[in-house]
Amino acid sequence: MLRIFKKYNLKKQNAFKLDVIAEYFVSVTQKKDLKKLAKRIDLKTNKHFILGSGFNTLFTGNFNGLIIHPNIGGIVKLKENKSHVWFKVGAGVDWTNFVKFAVSKNLSGIENLNLIPGSVGAAPVQNIAAYGQNFEDVFVSLTSYDIIENKFVKFNKSKCKFAYRDSFFKRESNGRYVIIDVTIKLSKIANIDTSYHSRYGGIVDELNKFTKPPYNVSVIAKAVGRIRRRKFPNWNKFGTAGSFFLNPFVSKEKLSEIQKIAPGVQFYPIEKTTYPPTDDHYLKHSSYVKIAAGWLLEEIGWRGKRIGNVSTSPNQALVVISHGKTSPNEILSFTKRMQDDFEKAYGIKLEPEVNII
Ligand code: EPU
Repeated sequence: MLRIFKKYNLKKQNAFKLDVIAEYFVSVTQKKDLKKLAKRIDLKTNKHFILGSGFNTLFTGNFNGLIIHPNIGGIVKLKENKSHVWFKVGAGVDWTNFVKFAVSKNLSGIENLNLIPGSVGAAPVQNIAAYGQNFEDVFVSLTSYDIIENKFVKFNKSKCKFAYRDSFFKRESNGRYVIIDVTIKLSKIANIDTSYHSRYGGIVDELNKFTKPPYNVSVIAKAVGRIRRRKFPNWNKFGTAGSFFLNPFVSKEKLSEIQKIAPGVQFYPIEKTTYPPTDDHYLKHSSYVKIAAGWLLEEIGWRGKRIGNVSTSPNQALVVISHGKTSPNEILSFTKRMQDDFEKAYGIKLEPEVNII
């Protein structure tokens, strides 16, 4: 039976573990639940929000509407050829569990995306990417439920309009489509990517601590896990949404100005999360680059800074953490101070990566 809860506490379903109440909440575990829901509530006119596990969402207060939580499970193998395997994965499947599943089968494409909190349904919304791998590169298609037309709609890659931490669903769809399942293509041939490097070491440095080449998908997932555990707090205990802000895009002229204040600041191509050396042809000749906001925040004293119950990570200034009881206002005023200091120092406005509702 489809149960609609009233006055539902979202504490377990928002990144910062805030005590916020949804007027109504429904968890959808089967495709047909959405049709049933549409019969009971007019979704076209009633305020609603689609919430996965909430790992990238900051509620600014109680939510005066209906929260739809897609919680459809299942990993189904669709087909296989010599080089690849296709899976249909339910939107409610935990992303990290799916990475573990892929690694256990020695399939490649998402091992560098290990330990990203959230559900499979949220992966295309945020177009998750990390340590050299990008979700959009393993994405094939998805099935969604169109709330306006009351029908199921398929999205291929171009319809998703993927960009850096961005998609059609994040920017334009305005809660119209509920993602039900995602088709993902993994490679039987390991495409090992160890290009990630940083001011404080990279994947190769981490691998060297416990293994030797040749590397397989399992050791890559382990190395990424070790790096992530250092930067991010244990999300079962603390509230965090990972990077709070996006890495900004700047012109090459602006980069030169910033390099005078922060020599050595890391920068990347704007499209995807890749880690080319600084003499890379594309980087040399592009007019715009993406710069490491975390690096620049550290330069102005924001690494490991704590005000009340909110801090940045001691190992990553872009990662905001709530310790114990925190209010939405405390998080918002903390991150506003980060933004203000950043703008004063570099003349650039940081844009949130987190969805603020
Ligand atoms: N850095 C510092 N000081 C800091 C933080 C970072 O010097 O306090 C330096 C790092 O050492 C590195 C550079 O700045 O040289 C960039 O930092 P890092 O490699 O940690 O990655 P990031 O650019 O801050 C992005 C993604 C992360 C993803 C990592 C790894 C965004 C907004 N964030 O972070 O994704 O895990 O790269 O690929 O693009 C997320 O989206 O929530 C997320 C965690």
